[in-house]
Amino acid sequence: MTERSEGTVKHSAFGAESDEGGLRTKQAPGVRIDGLTVVYKTTAGELPAVRDVSLELKPGTITGIVGESGSGKSTMALSLLNAVQPPGRIAAGRVDIDGLGDVAEFKGEQLRKARGRHIGYVFQAAQNSLNPLKTVGKQLLDLGRSHGVEDLRALVREAKELLGRMGLDGARVLDSHQHELSGGMRQRVGIMLALVLNAHLVVLDEPTTALDMITQANILKIVREVHAERGLTTLVITHDIGVVAEVADRLAVMYGGRLVEQGPTREVLADPQHPYTRGLIRAIPRLVGDINEAQALPGRPPTLATVPKEGCVFRERCALRMDVCDTVDPAARPYGLRIVACHAVDQAVKVPSGEGEHA
Ligand SMILES: Nc1ncnc2c1ncn2[C@@H]1O[C@H](COP(=O)(O)OP(=O)(O)O)[C@@H](O)[C@H]1O
Ligand code: SF4
Ligand SMILES: [Mg+2]
Repeated sequence: MTERSEGTVKHSAFGAESDEGGLRTKQAPGVRIDGLTVVYKTTAGELPAVRDVSLELKPGTITGIVGESGSGKSTMALSLLNAVQPPGRIAAGRVDIDGLGDVAEFKGEQLRKARGRHIGYVFQAAQNSLNPLKTVGKQLLDLGRSHGVEDLRALVREAKELLGRMGLDGARVLDSHQHELSGGMRQRVGIMLALVLNAHLVVLDEPTTALDMITQANILKIVREVHAERGLTTLVITHDIGVVAEVADRLAVMYGGRLVEQGPTREVLADPQHPYTRGLIRAIPRLVGDINEAQALPGRPPTLATVPKEGCVFRERCALRMDVCDTVDPAARPYGLRIVACHAVDQAVKVPSGEGEHA
C-alpha cells in the first residue's frame, strides 16, 4: 500500500512495497536513541526525567524497557514520537529512525504523519484516551482518514481481525462507546489502534497493566505473533519485568532517568549485573522460581526533585555503594553483549550470590 498526499502517490518512508505482499513486505526500521535528555520545568527549574540515554532498537526485535514507576520510561517512549509535551522538552540528543531521520527535529505535519502510520503507539493509560463521545468504529475511521487510508473497509476488517485475536467481538467493540467497555477491553482497543495502520515501529507503554495475569500473557503472545508476522520493531514498556521476560528479545532497565543495564533478555535475567536489575528480578516470584524466595526491593525510587544530581542515581538503595558512587555517575560500559552503568561492575567486584545488594 502507498500513502496518498495531495493527489500524489508517495512510497512509504520505509521503502517500496509490493501490492501483493502489501505493507507486510515493509522492513522493520532500526532506531538509535543517542544521548537523549528530556527535562520537565518544575518550581525548582528544569529537571531531567531522562538523562543521557543511548539505546538501539535493532530492526525486527522486541525491546522491553523496565523500571519502577517514575524511572522515565514513558518520557523516553514519548520522545520516540517527539511527543513530549510542555512543561517537558527534549533538551539534548537524537532519535534516529530508519527511513525517517531524526524525529527529535520533526515538527507539525511531518510529525503527525509519522505518528500512527510509521510509528504505532499505545500511550500509558490508553484505556482512558478514547473519545467518550464517539464509537470506537468512528474513531477508527477518523484515524484512517487522517492518515490517507484509501480502503476504509479493509481497515475495518483488519481492526475486527485484531480485536478477534485478542478475544473480543470486533463488530460489537467497534459499535461501542468507551463507557461500554471494561478497562481491559479499552486496553486491547488501544493495542488494535497501534497496530491497525500497519506501522512498522510499534511502541506499547504499559499495554497490559489493567489486565489479569492470564489475559496479559495472552495479549503479549498476540503482540509477539503480530510482531513476527509483520516484521516489526517493537518497544514494550512496563514496570513489571515479569511481563516482558517472555516476550522481549532485549531488555533495558531504567532508574532515575538513567539506563542502568541493557542486553539480551536471557542474559540479563540469568545473570543480572546491575544491583537494581537484581533487585527487580528478585522481587518477581515467577522469575525467582519460588514464591517464598521472592523479596520486594526495599525503599522507593527517587522523584524528579530527589534524584541525585551527582554520583550514582541508585546509591540510596544499593548495598554495594562505595565512596566513588557518591560523587561520580557511573558511565555505561560494555559488559560482554551488555551495557552496564555501575562502579562495582567496573571494578569487577565479585558478589557472592545470595548476599544482599540493597541496604
Ligand atoms: N508533565 C510532567 N511535569 C513534571 N514532571 C513530570 C511530568 N511527566 C512526568 N514527570 C516526572 O518525570 C519522571 C519520569 O516520569 P515517567 O516518564 O512518567 O516515568 P515512568 O513512565 O517510568 O513511570 C517522574 O519523576 C515524573 O513525576
Ligand atoms: S555499586 Fe555504586 S554505581 Fe553500582 S549501583 Fe551501587 S551505588 Fe550505583
Ligand atoms: Mg510510565
